[in-house]
Amino acid sequence: MSEEPVLKVEGLQTSFPLGGKDVPIVDGVSFALHPGRCLALVGESGCGKSMTALSLMRLIPQPGSITGGDIFLEGEGLRSLSVPQMRSLRGKKMGMIFQEPMTSLNPVTRVGEQVIEAIRIHEKVSKRAARARVIEIFRQVGIPDAESRVEAFPHQLSGGLKQRVMIAMALVLKPRVLIADEPTTALDVTIQAQIIELMRELMTETKTAILLITHDLGVVNQIADDIAVMYAGRVIETGSRRRVLKFPQHPYTQGLLGALPGRAERGQRLHEIAGIVPAPVHWPGGCRFRPRCDRAMEVCAESVPTLLPVGLEGSSEANDLELQGEGNHCCACYAVEEPS
Ligand SMILES: Nc1ncnc2c1ncn2[C@@H]1O[C@H](COP(=O)(O)OP(=O)(O)O)[C@@H](O)[C@H]1O
Ligand SMILES: [Mg+2]
Repeated sequence: MSEEPVLKVEGLQTSFPLGGKDVPIVDGVSFALHPGRCLALVGESGCGKSMTALSLMRLIPQPGSITGGDIFLEGEGLRSLSVPQMRSLRGKKMGMIFQEPMTSLNPVTRVGEQVIEAIRIHEKVSKRAARARVIEIFRQVGIPDAESRVEAFPHQLSGGLKQRVMIAMALVLKPRVLIADEPTTALDVTIQAQIIELMRELMTETKTAILLITHDLGVVNQIADDIAVMYAGRVIETGSRRRVLKFPQHPYTQGLLGALPGRAERGQRLHEIAGIVPAPVHWPGGCRFRPRCDRAMEVCAESVPTLLPVGLEGSSEANDLELQGEGNHCCACYAVEEPS
């Protein structure tokens, strides 16, 4: 990981006015995306993954706003950019595949035309050349009859096809950073595999950095280099995919992975943990996982554990030769040992 990160998120806080006060739904999140690498952001529903993604694009729904930290794209702080400056970054520098994309297509313009326009905003290419690229990318994302589908209006396409058009639109611009929020959840496995393959190609060919939000450990295994685990607005564990899946440290991560060694590596959906993620207004002080945690101690209620490198001395993780050179494994938990 010698290359500089293309995107750096530092202490990001995104809040909504709820019950008379500003509630941070994303609360001090930090991570970095590197060229040609994929970071998987995982965690149960309601943990703030989509809100983190929307914050990066500065597309937070009203009345929410970024209330702390910043996002640096190739060194440039995004928080201070004007709306038009931010708009000019979207698409080519930072593309996003949304979890709920159905509203993002213009209902009165043919879908092919919309993708052609997106290409021509960012690149000087003829309409003809752009059209050929659109047909090709439509084929690649598994849209049958791509040549005639480019002429369709959004209402003439099924939900799954519209989702594929949105994926095509994000991928065809070959962005520096791609944010994909559960991009393949609604698609069948064959199409899903095709799309994962296209994302991998982007990573190798154009060194695109990917932030991938997913519940699917199979997908994580196929594409992610690194993992960040989110709970109740905070990142509580980070590390290389292999470290986190093989030696999950945080009780929450262990719960998500079903705590059985090897299970995560075979690739399945994340495990269900007893209890639910509370609504943000009810997030407790200290460690927010404490009420659901069977290793909770007094200190967990008193202060927020910080994300620190895991103490590996003498552990099986330290002795695992396959993991040499895989970078830091960090965890925010008082029950997990810190390096001495
Ligand atoms: N527009 C909104 N206004 C207020 N709260 C919201 C809004 N959108 C999402 N939330 C709340 O923010 C929390 C995080 O949501 P989200 O980022 O969608 O989680 P995830 O993607 O991890 O499932 C949830 O508790 C959700 O109810
Ligand atoms: Mg979401």
